[in-house]
Amino acid sequence: MHKHHSALGLASLHRPVQPVTLLRPHAAQRAARFFAEKFPGRSMYAVKANPSPDLLEILWDSGITHYDVASIAEVRLLARTLPDATLCFMHPVKAEEAIAEAYFIHGVRTFSLDTMEELEKIVRATKGATDLNLCVRIRVSSDHSKLSLASKFGAEPDEMKALLIATRQVADALGICFHVGSQAMTPAAYAEAMERVRAAIVGAAVTVDIVDVGGGFPSTYPGMEPPPLETYFEVIHKAFESLPISYSAELWCEPGRALCAEYASLLVRVEKRRGEELYINDGAYGALFDAAHIGWRFPVKLVRDDASDARDMAFSFYGPTCDDLDHMAGPFMLPADVAAGDYIEIGMLGAYGCAMRTGFNGFGSDLKVIVEDEPMASLYLAQEERRAASNVVKL
Ligand SMILES: Cc1ncc(COP(=O)(O)O)c(C=O)c1O
Repeated sequence: MHKHHSALGLASLHRPVQPVTLLRPHAAQRAARFFAEKFPGRSMYAVKANPSPDLLEILWDSGITHYDVASIAEVRLLARTLPDATLCFMHPVKAEEAIAEAYFIHGVRTFSLDTMEELEKIVRATKGATDLNLCVRIRVSSDHSKLSLASKFGAEPDEMKALLIATRQVADALGICFHVGSQAMTPAAYAEAMERVRAAIVGAAVTVDIVDVGGGFPSTYPGMEPPPLETYFEVIHKAFESLPISYSAELWCEPGRALCAEYASLLVRVEKRRGEELYINDGAYGALFDAAHIGWRFPVKLVRDDASDARDMAFSFYGPTCDDLDHMAGPFMLPADVAAGDYIEIGMLGAYGCAMRTGFNGFGSDLKVIVEDEPMASLYLAQEERRAASNVVKL
């Protein structure tokens, strides 16, 4: 893969016609080491956030040995890319064929469930295996998070007793897992969820071997600046230690976004300006799904040889397809003189952005280069380091 120091080097030298993904391996490595060293338990990477094999290899080399996979395609990808990794199939609703293939062909032993039907399915598909780690997912609130995961999955607290007792009978190791929603803006989300876990354990009076606090660990975006990740770890550790099973149980987490948001940004070109609207060459069907559909704001920066001294003003973006839906409201703050032919770096797209792009309408590109400068925002750089880094922008 080609290397440049920064987006500017690439834009000045090559004037790319297609959008280019800028990869920062050092940022993914830093995030992985942070979790591997500081989370008070095991960190497994939620592959859905960004399944690119180059990222998977960086995470593996940086100490992430366990991976949360949610589809048989992700199981196969991991089995191919990191054959020694431990895979945990954490989607609570799986095809029976997928469970059987995961268990018998790829050696997966950890599965999640939130109903008796799913438990029966797992038992059937694995032919009554006795070496299963089964995690029962409990429904918890997403009130503190920007993206809810509270409706679709999770057993209600009053369903947990029967489910835990039944699962205990067939599991080698019994776990409880939850997800507080993505981009949890306060560690209180985990403290509150852990209270539900406590009530479930006490209510069922079973030994629980694994408590998996799921994903939800935040990254940093304009208008969404969370407290330091260490505070999340402290709250989780304290809540875990106070559970009646903590002396014998393992603590797990499944970060997606927090491990890869800083890994990638996107260099786009402005094809047209219409007042406060910029028509750019990537959009809702590309890496900007969240910007279009849930109004997520990403940091932006004009990439020009001679920096503009015009004041910043608010822009919205149109993507390249023919749909009105291909619109990102922003506001995205850029110098007022931005014009067709200019390049813009859009930051913090390593999580979900890159993973969700399509080739709809013939747009989108697979061009990737490695850049060496810092991501446009970071939860892993100290304040002084952020100030010193040329690429870090004010959120
Ligand atoms: C089961 C499970 N674990 C982990 C994650 C990763 O979440 P996040 O990216 O918020 O850390 C998800 C995201 O949807 C998930 O469904």
